[in-house]
Amino acid sequence: MTHEELTLDVNGTRRTGLFPPGARLLDALRRLGYTGTKEGCGEGECGACTVLVAGRPVNSCLVFAKQVAGKPIVTVEGVGTRYASGLHPFQQALIDAGGVQCGFCTPGIVVTGAHHLDSGGSTDDGEVRAALSGNLCRCTGYSKVLQAVRDAGAKR
Ligand code: FES
Ligand code: FES
Repeated sequence: MTHEELTLDVNGTRRTGLFPPGARLLDALRRLGYTGTKEGCGEGECGACTVLVAGRPVNSCLVFAKQVAGKPIVTVEGVGTRYASGLHPFQQALIDAGGVQCGFCTPGIVVTGAHHLDSGGSTDDGEVRAALSGNLCRCTGYSKVLQAVRDAGAKR
């Protein structure tokens, strides 16, 4: 199989790699070492693979890497890099609230929740639930995740 060279802009760094035809963004990111992005369902239902593309959350399992070559991509590894602690306030709030159990859903929840807060989203319960409605978690029961969004939002 002939591989194709693509350059992706990931967390502010241009990364070039060879990928099979039809490679999903999820696979390309993981091949480049961004293994924080997880595959759950592989069909757009669970949100574990969420990354930002051009400032919007997308399910990276549903996007071809080639479609987003040259567009800015942010993975969970890049969400907190502008903070001295290396953690976005929502990441710290998740830790403080106990909003992480097995952690498999957490990268997608971090990307989505941080984006919601950074884009001025409300901490109103209904709006937070709507923002995170595409991110499924089998462990936490969601209440601590929602609490973490409210806590981080209150500190903005
Ligand atoms: S792995 Fe992409 S939405 Fe579930
Ligand atoms: S913490 Fe286990 S799936 Fe969410």
